[in-house]
Amino acid sequence: MRRRYSWLWMIVLMQISTPIMAEGGPMDEIMLGLSEEMTRIGDGIWAEEFSTIALAAEAIAEHPLPPLMQRLKLLADLGSNSSQFMAADKALKAAALEVVAAAKQEDLEAVLNRYQAVQQHCVDCHSWYRNSIQPQN
Ligand code: HEC
Repeated sequence: MRRRYSWLWMIVLMQISTPIMAEGGPMDEIMLGLSEEMTRIGDGIWAEEFSTIALAAEAIAEHPLPPLMQRLKLLADLGSNSSQFMAADKALKAAALEVVAAAKQEDLEAVLNRYQAVQQHCVDCHSWYRNSIQPQN
């Protein structure tokens, strides 16, 4: 029993010591995925391909989360700011679903406006993170 726990702790410590924002870390992978889906929406807009737009916006709304240990590390790093981070992610999801709805109605004007709103959520969280969180690390 005791032996099993010590192994468990070793694994936990190994995971925790991996910096969450490290180059090539899971956070980067998720963000690069988001960035690709935004490009896909842009391409869909030029081609007026509403199915592409809907799929890409859905992928943004349902983006993967980092593995559990990385998630715990992120929350620990964010401390009292973690609820704001989660709220920003939730707002992104809601905005992306608005794009999905506009695409399903084949309303290009609404897609365009809501796409910009999604972009604003990306930028807002980045500025917030860089200005309020990162300097303290
Ligand atoms: C809830 C917060 C949050 C939201 C919303 C968010 N991001 Fe990020 N993003 C981050 C954080 C944190 C980083 C790491 C910033 C740093 O280390 O400077 C990051 C970094 C990135 C990077 C750089 C990755 C790299 O290679 O270093 C890209 C690209 C990116 N985000 C794209 C997006 C796009 C596109 C969206 C919107 C669809 C988005 N993000 C929405 C938090 C967010």
